[in-house]
Amino acid sequence: MKKPVRVAVTGAAGQIGYSLIYRIAAGEMLGKDQPVILQMLELPMDKAQAALKGCMMELEDCAFPLLAGMVGTSDPKEAFKDADYALLVGARPRGPGMERKDLLMENAKIFIEQGRALDEAASRDIRVLVVGNPANTNASIAMKSAPSLPKKNFTAMLRLDHNRALSQLAAKASVPVADIDKLVVWGNHSPTMYPDYRFATVGGASLKDKINDEAWNRETFIPKVGKRGAAIIEARGLSSAASAANAAIDHMRDWALGTNGKWVTMGIPSDGSYGIPVDIMYGFPVVCANGEYTMVRDLPIDDYSRTMMDKTLAELQEEQAGVASMLA
Ligand code: NAD
Ligand code: LMR
Repeated sequence: MKKPVRVAVTGAAGQIGYSLIYRIAAGEMLGKDQPVILQMLELPMDKAQAALKGCMMELEDCAFPLLAGMVGTSDPKEAFKDADYALLVGARPRGPGMERKDLLMENAKIFIEQGRALDEAASRDIRVLVVGNPANTNASIAMKSAPSLPKKNFTAMLRLDHNRALSQLAAKASVPVADIDKLVVWGNHSPTMYPDYRFATVGGASLKDKINDEAWNRETFIPKVGKRGAAIIEARGLSSAASAANAAIDHMRDWALGTNGKWVTMGIPSDGSYGIPVDIMYGFPVVCANGEYTMVRDLPIDDYSRTMMDKTLAELQEEQAGVASMLA
């Protein structure tokens, strides 16, 4: 049996947390041979702590063979102590009529505090995924608040957008989702994101050629993927939870266990590629192997794509400027 790894989950008793922690404990994230110790953080208020206690009772009742231990706490340093993985979910979600960036000031404080706690308490190899919105800017805040940890170990969740785009493309082309590769969602997890299937293949052939409908791409596909989160809120009265938890599992599993050469989208700090300034937390195409991601480089960028990529970059820079004084 492998040595257990420590997985911290914040907001563990929230909507996404409730769809997430049981799947992690069942081995769906890190493999069916990898024991885990869950270290769960919730707000100190009685209601949140009671809900967390209930979640832990249910974890016990599942009798997961891979669950080697669990901690429930309201102290970020205790939650992140020696953690190998952290899924930062706990934050306020948006409601109807809001944009994700409307959450910026309120949620930024959380990610400053948690970045500092990670810096102090976590394993030096910790891999961090930020789910709480606005995810890219929160990931950037956490990264900047943890100067002793490698910047590359902070990531933001674009995987839900990637999965949404995959499903729309599979339906349009009448092909199985699993047969599509080389898709990317550039930029911010916001309506300015740019889902781009110019390089996508299905069974090795060009998906773009198969679909052959640029009007659909620009007028239907791109806005539909970009506004899917709002459509879910409109329909459910609550933001996406099962699909968000599923995307978080996909993101971490692929990072830890590899993608076998398949492209996935991760929000990662830019290294300056594609004209995106260094350290901007931006959705890029990556492949993962041996616990590391590698950006897919040197893809040709046409004029339309450049405009789209610059637009989502400008929004990220605006968000960064909005929180700059808090980080100073
Ligand atoms: P929720 O309100 O149901 O749950 C959030 C939980 O976090 C609550 O239990 C709350 O008590 C807890 N929490 C709040 N502040 C905390 C803190 N400082 N420390 C620890 N716990 C804290 O919300 P949800 O639906 O689970 O969504 C969580 C976040 O994820 C929201 O910001 C939402 O917008 C975001 N989200 C992101 C994506 C994505 O693709 N990146 C997708 C869906 C949702
Ligand atoms: C989503 O994309 O579903 C989440 O980011 C929640 C939201 O606010 O849209």
